Amino acid sequence: MHHKLATNHLPSKPYTAGSVVPVRELHAGHKCEILRHLLLLSEEDRRLRFGTQTPDEVIHHYVDGLDFNRDTVFGSFDSGLNLIGMAHLAYLPKIKDQPRAAEFGVSVLSTGRGKGIGTALLARASVHSRNTRIETLFVHCLANNRAMMHLAQKAGMRVEYAYGDADAYLKLPPANPGTIVEEAANEQWADFDYALKENFKRSNDAWSWFLGKPLVRPT
Ligand SMILES: CC(C)(COP(=O)(O)OP(=O)(O)OC[C@H]1O[C@@H](n2cnc3c(N)ncnc32)[C@H](O)[C@@H]1OP(=O)(O)O)[C@@H](O)C(=O)NCCC(=O)NCCS
Repeated sequence: MHHKLATNHLPSKPYTAGSVVPVRELHAGHKCEILRHLLLLSEEDRRLRFGTQTPDEVIHHYVDGLDFNRDTVFGSFDSGLNLIGMAHLAYLPKIKDQPRAAEFGVSVLSTGRGKGIGTALLARASVHSRNTRIETLFVHCLANNRAMMHLAQKAGMRVEYAYGDADAYLKLPPANPGTIVEEAANEQWADFDYALKENFKRSNDAWSWFLGKPLVRPT
């Protein structure tokens, strides 16, 4: 099977989607950022992300219940180290004699959309899935979610519609040395990017304190 996300990533060109978007793997220490990110989603975005009306309490419960030993969560940070995009790769329970599968859910804050962040998160989740022996990547969303449907189809996913819902599937080829190196290279690149942003933010904060007014940050 040949498709863009599964085969086109080279270590020298990480998660390219118009521009290079660094994606980090998140851990339990990021729960506050994850919560803040999800609470910033509008009512409609929450409906698109979770498939139903999602009040704040449900989001609190969802974040509390994230299990970083079982699942993998990815994030993309802006220059102010705000979590601008996040994706949850949830491993579905193993069924005897069935290929292993995982479900992908994603959100990008409205200020970060259209810059390739959603694409980069899907690309990263796809490579990680291959490296963790997932054979089918699955996205469940509302059929009128045009942006997600576009992302899924661009990634070569097969989409099936039923009763206002859409299920998109991506059959993944097995991992190979290239996918392992690719993921490691991308993790390093994302760590490097984060460290740069951290330093920049620190010096910015110091100057703001010194000048008594906030400096304008690049996005
Ligand atoms: C879906 C979502 C994650 C996309 O994030 P993003 O960072 O904007 O994604 P990208 O910039 O990588 O790509 C968006 C693509 O969708 C296209 N797009 C955006 N809105 C669209 C629409 N209404 N109809 C068709 N295509 C659309 C963009 O043109 C772009 O296409 P391109 O890469 O070919 O130019 C974001 O819109 C979001 O968080 N939505 C709310 C939550 C959600 O729907 N989650 C998915 C269900 S799990």
